[in-house]
Amino acid sequence: RLHQGEAIPEWFTFPEVVEILRERHPVNASQGFALFFTGLSGSGKSTLAQAILARLLETGSRPVTMLDGDEVRRHLSKGLGFSREDRNANITRIGFVASEVVRHGGIVICAPIAPYAEARQEARQLVQTHGRFVEIHVSTPLEVCEARDRKGLYAAARAGKIKGFTGIDDPYEAPAAPELRVDTSTLSVAEAADQVIAWLRQQELT
Ligand code: PPS
Repeated sequence: RLHQGEAIPEWFTFPEVVEILRERHPVNASQGFALFFTGLSGSGKSTLAQAILARLLETGSRPVTMLDGDEVRRHLSKGLGFSREDRNANITRIGFVASEVVRHGGIVICAPIAPYAEARQEARQLVQTHGRFVEIHVSTPLEVCEARDRKGLYAAARAGKIKGFTGIDDPYEAPAAPELRVDTSTLSVAEAADQVIAWLRQQELT
């Protein structure tokens, strides 16, 4: 154990040096948090995430990063498919990046389907090492998502042109105890965003 200000011996490994430096020079940032939206394709995750992003940018109190599902798959998770293994790898990567943002006191908004509880739990653990993890289940029923079918993917899945589509022939494990649940079939986007922001205020996160 070194004393405060004592020179760091040169045989210390780099990770040890980093740990000591972080301890000696804590960043004066208030606690960061992750808003992790999960729900079926077409449930309104991205739209809601964008509305919340705009609201948080307006308050301007903290840097906000958006990790939208589609964008993540174009960059961070390029090459991954939709098997259980690949979906979980996708969520773990999102969780890792989210934890880095939160570590530095930022707000990160994630909006993947994240159909498996195990991967959501892993992301939660990664983030909670550094701050709060707020899981928001966008619980819009399958019938409503399918009726919207903005990208025509449900029709393709029903026709067997896409295999393993979440909600059709692939599972979605609904979160048992999310911090929040919002259903965009009974609320407008603005109302759902209001609910999320009100909850964050009540928790003194914003
Ligand atoms: S996951 O399961 O969390 O890794 O999925 P995610 O990265 O959020 O990607 C979901 C978007 O990919 C499109 N897509 C599929 N979704 C579900 N199942 C299958 N098989 C599939 N193939 C492609 C779909 O457009 C999803 O977009 P959203 O925005 O959710 O509608």
